[in-house]
Amino acid sequence: MHADEAAAGGTADAAAGRTAEAPAGNRRSGAVAALAGLATEPGVAKPDPILIVDNVVRRFGGLTAVNVEHVEIQRGSITALIGPNGAGKTTFFNQLTGFDTADSGEWTFNGRRMNGVAAHKIARIGMVRTFQLTKALSKLTVLENMRLGAQGQIGEGFLRALIPALWRGQEDEITERAEELLKRFKLDAKRGDFAGSLSGGQRKLLEMARALMVKPELVMLDEPMAGVNPALTQSLLGHVKDLREQGMTVLFVEHDMDMVRDISDWVIVMAQGSVIAEGPPDTIMSDPRVVDAYLGAHHDTPLSAEEEERQLAEAEAELEEGAPVQEPAADGKDAPAPGEDAPAQEGAGR
Ligand SMILES: Nc1ncnc2c1ncn2[C@@H]1O[C@H](COP(=O)(O)OP(=O)(O)OP(=O)(O)O)[C@@H](O)[C@H]1O
Ligand SMILES: [Mg+2]
Repeated sequence: MHADEAAAGGTADAAAGRTAEAPAGNRRSGAVAALAGLATEPGVAKPDPILIVDNVVRRFGGLTAVNVEHVEIQRGSITALIGPNGAGKTTFFNQLTGFDTADSGEWTFNGRRMNGVAAHKIARIGMVRTFQLTKALSKLTVLENMRLGAQGQIGEGFLRALIPALWRGQEDEITERAEELLKRFKLDAKRGDFAGSLSGGQRKLLEMARALMVKPELVMLDEPMAGVNPALTQSLLGHVKDLREQGMTVLFVEHDMDMVRDISDWVIVMAQGSVIAEGPPDTIMSDPRVVDAYLGAHHDTPLSAEEEERQLAEAEAELEEGAPVQEPAADGKDAPAPGEDAPAQEGAGR
């Protein structure tokens, strides 16, 4: 062992170097250009992958929650990871970031093997994540939460991070970076408040800001916008785009397809533990495999024009069997769907 120990040493500065500022607005077109023309098939190789995953499997009893054969994340891009509830997105994040142990598989970050490395070390090496349910420590202040972020992830290694002796010598630098980030995320006025007093959206902001304390290269966000009121959503979206502008790579889980379309350069789709499709947002959203995965799971969608017409014709055919009924509205929208409101059998004269 201890390859990970060696790997962890002295990489924070390297990471900082790689996240140097670039001219604003250039990164998106760069990311899109780099991904243009790739085959839209699961596991497709990327020109400059920061993360490469092979055969990661995680089972819970008889359930295979994750079974990802191969996936690559393009450096400097915003990649969305989508898929129905229970597809395995969070479990996959947990494996990659050391919060849970995969049954098998391996993955490399910047060419360095990460399987078996502890979560706080993975964070300090430059691959950091946030949680679907935020993990801000409510009895600590906003600033204290930020300073803890400098130690790597809250989770494993967290108690160690609370030992003040480990902080000596870095304290000023850490506080300075925390203050800077709080300002950027407009939380500076709250620095002395308990994290527990923040709104849901502010907690999401705090968690994103805290993740940046380690100067990461890859930021993995698990539903960063979920449950956030619309006023803060735009601000969160802006911050995610900023990460790319500053040279970071973003992998984020999101259910809202408008947001996915708005900010992602590439989309990876998981269903039942596996990657079933990937490609640019527009291609992916019209991919029948993707539509099926969502329909098969839990989503409801509006009727297509053809389906609406078919249902209307069926209903009319049934009605022709004799019952006097009111005319459907001219646009057909008020026509009853079969079985839903069946005047032929029972509603005559309504
Ligand atoms: N600790 C666990 N023990 C047993 N089963 C688990 C555990 N964690 C996750 N699962 C199961 O693994 C599957 C994948 O869950 P996961 O939370 O990764 O899905 P998800 O894609 O993140 O879903 P959502 O969009 O709802 O967040 C689900 O069937 C879930 O019930
Ligand atoms: Mg999840």
